[in-house]
Amino acid sequence: MKIEVQHLSCIYNRGTAGEVRALDDISFTIESGSFTGIIGHTGSGKSTLVQHLNGLMKPFSGKVLLGDTDIGASGVHMAEIRRRVGLVFQYPEYQLFEETVAEDIAFGPKNMGLDEQEQEDRVREAMATVGLDYAEFASRSPFELSGGQKRRVAIAGVIAMRPDVLILDEPAAGLDPAAHREMLRMISRFHQERGCTILLVSHNMDDVAEYCGQVLVMDQGKLLYSGTPREVFAHREELEAIGLGLPAGAELLHLMNQRGAEPGGKGALTDAEAAAAVLEWLGKQETC
Ligand SMILES: Nc1ncnc2c1ncn2[C@@H]1O[C@H](COP(=O)(O)OP(=O)(O)O)[C@@H](O)[C@H]1O
Ligand SMILES: [Mg+2]
Repeated sequence: MKIEVQHLSCIYNRGTAGEVRALDDISFTIESGSFTGIIGHTGSGKSTLVQHLNGLMKPFSGKVLLGDTDIGASGVHMAEIRRRVGLVFQYPEYQLFEETVAEDIAFGPKNMGLDEQEQEDRVREAMATVGLDYAEFASRSPFELSGGQKRRVAIAGVIAMRPDVLILDEPAAGLDPAAHREMLRMISRFHQERGCTILLVSHNMDDVAEYCGQVLVMDQGKLLYSGTPREVFAHREELEAIGLGLPAGAELLHLMNQRGAEPGGKGALTDAEAAAAVLEWLGKQETC
């Protein structure tokens, strides 16, 4: 489902000494079926922005359109909006509350009024998607699982509502490298298999370069850049100035070029692209 944000602003604690302009005249479009990354320093407004996309927060000014629906308009069913736009919060594992994993994941489908068989089908499907074995985990307490497993339960709870748009707010934060990789692969598989529109808030430039077709860069409540990873990461110095970096592959080529080596690979971002550029350059050195 296409998302259009028009001149969206948000102010916390308006009119008090603690007033914060968290979003400042933000406009962008997310195409249906795309995979978009949202990056920015802590406090730049990423979480505030994504909470506007499923109606959890109402625009102070500006509009959020989901397909043709203005979600701020009167008469819009918020429950339906939240079903269509699934939002996985930062550290969602702290929001588990049911006695078993299956009950926790079934919470959304149950609230949608689905019958028990359909609820169970949804739970099984969502657990398979996030890589949790039904027989092993369905009747366990979510509280006795590892941090990574709890997070997968929380994501399964959102996926079980079969949203058209899935928004994940830093889903890999705090995970060890193996769990981090597995989380991103799982999200990517879900995107490919379902054709769901994905928004990923991330601090990891490598993940953004690898998986995202579009990147939004937030800085102090403003949208600084919007474009493909190649377009956005061409702004190395500007990104550095707001506390962000380049993907490792792009940084490697930049450092080599700075030291007088000249591997091509203009626009290489990922490790694999940088490795190919360096190998090609080494091959040319030998034949000189
Ligand atoms: N509930 C709130 N009340 C007041 N200020 C808030 C609240 N939530 C976030 N902020 C402020 O709004 C700004 C953007 O925060 P946030 O959207 O959480 O950024 P990010 O997710 O990029 O770290 C920050 O200055 C933050 O301190
Ligand atoms: Mg945040």
